[in-house]
Amino acid sequence: MIFVTNNSHKLQEVSAMLGGKINLQSLRDIGCMDDIPETAETLEGNALMKARYIYEHYGTDCFADDTGLEVIALGGEPGVYSARYAGPGHDSEANMQKLLANMEGKSDRRAQFRTVIALIKEGREYLFEGIVTGCIMEEREEGEGFGYDPIFCPDGYKHSFAYLGDEVKNRISHRARAMEKLVEFLGRE
Ligand code: IMP
Repeated sequence: MIFVTNNSHKLQEVSAMLGGKINLQSLRDIGCMDDIPETAETLEGNALMKARYIYEHYGTDCFADDTGLEVIALGGEPGVYSARYAGPGHDSEANMQKLLANMEGKSDRRAQFRTVIALIKEGREYLFEGIVTGCIMEEREEGEGFGYDPIFCPDGYKHSFAYLGDEVKNRISHRARAMEKLVEFLGRE
């Protein structure tokens, strides 16, 4: 099964969740260097766009994910634009700084990470969603992970995803929840 990603953190996270049940290959593993378009205006649209691209070019069962950080006080921003919030450079540091600046003075700091996975199996398309709710911290707390992990505190915890580390994150994260649904579905097939 191909996981349509170049993000080694994600591949590691998802492989750990699958516990060796499915042999995952990344874009690098299949020699795909293409710049796959992600121009839809929703997470669902982008996940489908990526999966369809690989299915059409390689004819192999595959899945793609798209994730956004949705902040209530910012009307759901950065959402589908999470990777490019501070500009086209996909710069996590700049993205976090912009988000913290936009949250200054806001008392409602509730937010959620939402992942949508699009699976194409034998030509059929399926969508799976995973959400983790939490809040945007006033200050960053470094550790493991990537992206907005240093400033997102999941509900039920007092620390950032980065500080909590991969072991905790992989159990409760948006991606873990969407992946659980995918794995359950694949197990039933
Ligand atoms: P993607 O489209 O799924 O790669 O996610 C878009 C952006 O959301 C990424 O570039 C990250 O900035 C952010 N993001 C996605 N997943 C996570 C996560 O698990 N932790 C922190 N940030 C994330």
